[in-house]
Amino acid sequence: MKLASATSAGATWPSWVLVAAAVLVSGLLLAGPALRRRYPVAWWLLCGFPAVAFRVVQTWRPLMAGCGLAVSRRPALTVVSGLVGKGAPPPQPRVPRRGLIRPTSSGFVLLVRLLPGQVPEHFVKAAPAMAENWQVHSVRVTSWKPGVVRIVASAADPLADPRVPKQRGPGHLLRVTVGALETGAAWVVDLRRVPHWLIVGATRSGKSTLINALVAGLAPQPVALVGIDCKGGMELSLYEPRLSALATNREQAVRLLAALVDLTLDRMTLCRAARVRNIWGLSGKERPVPVVVIVDEIAELFLVASRNEKDEAHAAGTALIRLAQLGASLGVFLVVAGQRVGSDLGPGVTALRAQLGGRVCHRVADPGTAEMALGDLNPDALKAAQAITPEQAGTAVLASGDGWERARSHLITEAEAEAVAAEYAHLTPVLSELHVEAP
Ligand SMILES: Nc1ncnc2c1ncn2[C@@H]1O[C@H](COP(=O)(O)OP(=O)(O)O)[C@@H](O)[C@H]1O
Ligand SMILES: [Mg+2]
Repeated sequence: MKLASATSAGATWPSWVLVAAAVLVSGLLLAGPALRRRYPVAWWLLCGFPAVAFRVVQTWRPLMAGCGLAVSRRPALTVVSGLVGKGAPPPQPRVPRRGLIRPTSSGFVLLVRLLPGQVPEHFVKAAPAMAENWQVHSVRVTSWKPGVVRIVASAADPLADPRVPKQRGPGHLLRVTVGALETGAAWVVDLRRVPHWLIVGATRSGKSTLINALVAGLAPQPVALVGIDCKGGMELSLYEPRLSALATNREQAVRLLAALVDLTLDRMTLCRAARVRNIWGLSGKERPVPVVVIVDEIAELFLVASRNEKDEAHAAGTALIRLAQLGASLGVFLVVAGQRVGSDLGPGVTALRAQLGGRVCHRVADPGTAEMALGDLNPDALKAAQAITPEQAGTAVLASGDGWERARSHLITEAEAEAVAAEYAHLTPVLSELHVEAP
């Protein structure tokens, strides 16, 4: 009797465990999507990361071999082992040594030591294959220190739903948080560090949204905003209450740009008289207000049909280049947006492009535009720019002297930008020298 009850207890408890496990698994399956949305980091660390790390370990050797990153042992050794081992398989090729796979909040990081004869570019080329093999969104390879590369993988696109909060209040002068970087950090446009910017992108790729974010961030600051929008002012007139001047056709633009050049030259005289190298060396009272010039659709300024227009376009181009050359130290900053920035717009465009150090490339219609916007950077930057889909509007590749990054602007609608401009209209500096009337 006693024995019988003992066996029945022994038989029932594993089935209890099974039932409990089944309940737990089905519960997780049912609640999974909700948990994942609510606690993405915890979900990734507990469920996603272990699986992906296992995949990395499993596929490391075949992946390296498949990408041509394995180095075979000395041929002599292979022959000897064939003789001595009597048909035993020859020694496996050497693969690059991998460090610990460390999780991040949305992916993982891994250091890899290069084998003799390898350079980081070999690994950069293999990045797409790694992403496919490990089933992650993207893999970026950068040089870490001599002989070591750093592999950063993102499990999902961190820019699909960026988590960096929008900027509130004025913040630092001429510094605006306009969106989020792929790393999760804030995307900050700092005009004192990089004074002039070129923003390219096809129609509805997010150029105006980025300008909205920039204007919304600058509006509460003590700066003058100047607009040049030769498509009849359809875009920039939204911020008119906060603009110190606005040109809505090429004729006005040429006069406004000439006035801006004069203003810049006056500032130069001022600085020279005070024996300082830039306006930041002037004392607070005599320092002129920084001016941010926003040009929407640069092509409208340069494309010409007649001889007369050609002269205007030339004058506009020369003035813009002049402003870019002199402006940075004299507190005049340029933000130029356009769909195309090719030399087909005229010779001035190439020279202007060279002066605009900050580059933002949204989705573009043709590879040539991405190339012109990003310069001769790594080919992977161009690929990243060309991979942006229309659904990812606002996503862009940023380039500066020391590399490239993916980022996405905050979605600041026209209505929001208009409201911010109206709210801070009282801060609009009066620059009477920019009020250029028709002759
Ligand atoms: N950062 C963003 N996040 C989400 N959606 C965006 C973002 N930027 C742009 N969009 C969407 O794309 C549309 C077109 O953007 P817009 O800035 O007007 O493009 P463009 O000026 O290049 O023609 C916007 O109305 C918006 O719906
Ligand atoms: Mg636009």
